[in-house]
Amino acid sequence: MKPVVTVTNMFPEKALEKLDPHCELRTNQTENSPSASDLEKIASESVVMITYLSDKIDAGIIDKGPNLKLIANYGAGFNNIDVDHAAGKRIWITNTPGVLHETTADLTWAMILGAGRNIVAADRFTRENKFKGWSANMYLGGDVYGKTLGVIGCGEIGSAVARRAAGFNMKVLYFNRNRMPEEKEKELNAELVTLEDLLRKSDFVTVHAPLTDQTKNMIGREQFLVMKPTAYFIHTARGKVVDDQALVEALKEGGIAGAALDVYENEPALTEGMTELENLMLLPHIGSASHETRNIMADLVADNVLDVLQDKPPRSLVPSWGK
Ligand code: 8YV
Repeated sequence: MKPVVTVTNMFPEKALEKLDPHCELRTNQTENSPSASDLEKIASESVVMITYLSDKIDAGIIDKGPNLKLIANYGAGFNNIDVDHAAGKRIWITNTPGVLHETTADLTWAMILGAGRNIVAADRFTRENKFKGWSANMYLGGDVYGKTLGVIGCGEIGSAVARRAAGFNMKVLYFNRNRMPEEKEKELNAELVTLEDLLRKSDFVTVHAPLTDQTKNMIGREQFLVMKPTAYFIHTARGKVVDDQALVEALKEGGIAGAALDVYENEPALTEGMTELENLMLLPHIGSASHETRNIMADLVADNVLDVLQDKPPRSLVPSWGK
């Protein structure tokens, strides 16, 4: 009997073909995420689950899987899984590091430029046929070139965002749990500062910290109050790192000039007032959504699955497993 491998959401065909000869593959090529009870059933029948950030894999679900060997998350973040509980049961947890940071950094830059220059609001205005002639004060934004970029969380994605700042002749400040090696700081031309200094001095603040007990709600009312009224706030990490209500208030009160979000505190729900704000760009969590990168992510997920099916440790075990 072949081991059951269940994929809970859409997965690229090429990676499915790679897995197919080695297992009984159960797929869900729809946009519908499984419910908690669906996940319990999947856990009870599978040796491997391929999961997504929308699948909350808590202890209760993990306990339903007597044969579970691996939960392979399709993404770099893995805050949706109770890693400690899984590790206690010797169930491997993997993610997809090292393959999506450039693509997510590209999107972050689209948001930096888009927020700074009102791209989405100006497009909406034009397509609604409101452009009746040139006007000197129409959609004035903030310059990006030569300004200061503040990167909160300078891991793979934050570093890739910082590297691109050289092309815009920007000064880069960063705030991180650990200082980067001097060589890397030089390469990125980035200076370690306190969070308060970063918020006070940056013209564009971009968040790339993972969601942990320490980073939950790390940006709230107090932090927005410190930012310049001309500054922009960009967020592509995990919604719960930011207090969205405080962001809405900062945008309404002119505490900051604008913002762009790809993730939300109560994703996929938006906080009240968000959709009415002209100076807020809203995206549906598409940081890694390029054809190329999604295929590479899926290929890495498939390799992790094949490792475990061959009784080998998976190649991208999450760093906190067993710690
Ligand atoms: C994924 C992400 O699309 O990698 C991550 O952490 O947020 C996205 O790139 C998402 O995790 C899909 O499960």
